[in-house]
Amino acid sequence: MPIRRSKVLVKWIIENQHKFQLQLSAVRSCSSSLRYKELEENVQVQAEIALSAESPSTLPRPHITPEISFKYDDLQVRLAAPYQLQPKPEAKDLGFGKYFTDHMLKIHYHKQLGGWQKPEIMPFENLSIHPAAKALHYAIQLFEGLKAYRGVDDKIRLFRPDLNMERMNLAAQRSGLPTFDAHELIKCISRIVQIDQEWVPHSETSTLYIRPTLIGTEPTFGIMAPESALLFVILSPVSAYYKASSDGAVSIFADPNVVRAFPGGVGNRKVGSNYGPTIEATARAAKMGHHQVLWLFGPDHQLTEVGAMNIFMVYINDQGDKQLSTPPLNGLILPGVTRRSILELASQWEDLTVKEEVITMDRVMQLNQEGRLLEMFGAGTAVVISPISRVGFLDQDIVIPTMKQAKPVFQRVKDTLLAIQYGHIEHPYAVVIS
Ligand SMILES: Cc1ncc(COP(=O)(O)O)c(C=O)c1O
Repeated sequence: MPIRRSKVLVKWIIENQHKFQLQLSAVRSCSSSLRYKELEENVQVQAEIALSAESPSTLPRPHITPEISFKYDDLQVRLAAPYQLQPKPEAKDLGFGKYFTDHMLKIHYHKQLGGWQKPEIMPFENLSIHPAAKALHYAIQLFEGLKAYRGVDDKIRLFRPDLNMERMNLAAQRSGLPTFDAHELIKCISRIVQIDQEWVPHSETSTLYIRPTLIGTEPTFGIMAPESALLFVILSPVSAYYKASSDGAVSIFADPNVVRAFPGGVGNRKVGSNYGPTIEATARAAKMGHHQVLWLFGPDHQLTEVGAMNIFMVYINDQGDKQLSTPPLNGLILPGVTRRSILELASQWEDLTVKEEVITMDRVMQLNQEGRLLEMFGAGTAVVISPISRVGFLDQDIVIPTMKQAKPVFQRVKDTLLAIQYGHIEHPYAVVIS
């Protein structure tokens, strides 16, 4: 700015500064009414969230107003020294979550210090945690699971990370954990993946699994929102999650005496307390020769989920059309990123009717007996698509002809998802990060 113009500006400021006070107070009252509006909206959001337990996934999704968030721009990076770098395992040894990369991301939250602190990427290390931390006693915690894929063009992509962040914030809100700005965390995650990019397998059968976790660390026994928390992100190169039979399909067991979730509970949130209690039932199913549990609900034995996947069924409907169905998001079901993507992609395929509908065991058995049931499969980030060939239910062994179809829908869905994830086709779901 030329000197003469800046002198004029300074003179104008001196002459008019008394007016600023007035304008500032106007801004203040305006921002407090905004804050009020925000609070009002929050109440509405709570109501919407309560409602969403009953509403189909097509309704507008609840919007979370984050606490004043941490910022990617404040990120501090401390790289591992050469002697701290871990050898990379062979692809065949990967398993699921056995090995971890050289770095981790940590973001502390301390209410007393104004909330979220600066994000830090640092060499991977153990956590030191107070034995009274609320996460350890009341499961005040949540986690997410997404993947970084190395594409055919060697670029690394994330798959719809915004949906994982949205789900994370909804779980945080339910457990009194602090919420945050989704985009700031996506930027921090992208950075740590870039730093550890050599850990993203050079293969289309393995990926780098990203596990963001948020735990309540306040060391007091009161069952209330923790005043301190830790958000951390660790990365693990992984291969296939589930064991399957030689044909690639799984056998599942439906025990009507156990439930994974119940109305008004947290089946629709990715909180650790949903998973620990599934171990016994899964082990029982395994003893009987099944790979996974089919989670039922209610006296009419409604299908909800299978293992840690959403469930899908393909059959010939009453109009004679091929239909892809999955149960609606009724509060008992995790709103899977893969589930939503399948519904959105398949609804553009003209030869398929796509529907969210209640599916009962009676319906499965009736369709199967009539020869109209074609396929069943589970879907989720970890495994992508897992075809189902057998369902154990009460004293019956129901054989599903999933692997007998000439052009199965599950394969088409899987190929489409993988093509997007590994960059064979450019698609807005896949976000290139390096
Ligand atoms: C219970 C449950 N259902 C479904 C899914 C699939 O969700 P997504 O497709 O987001 O991985 C998961 C995995 O996160 C899960 O844990």
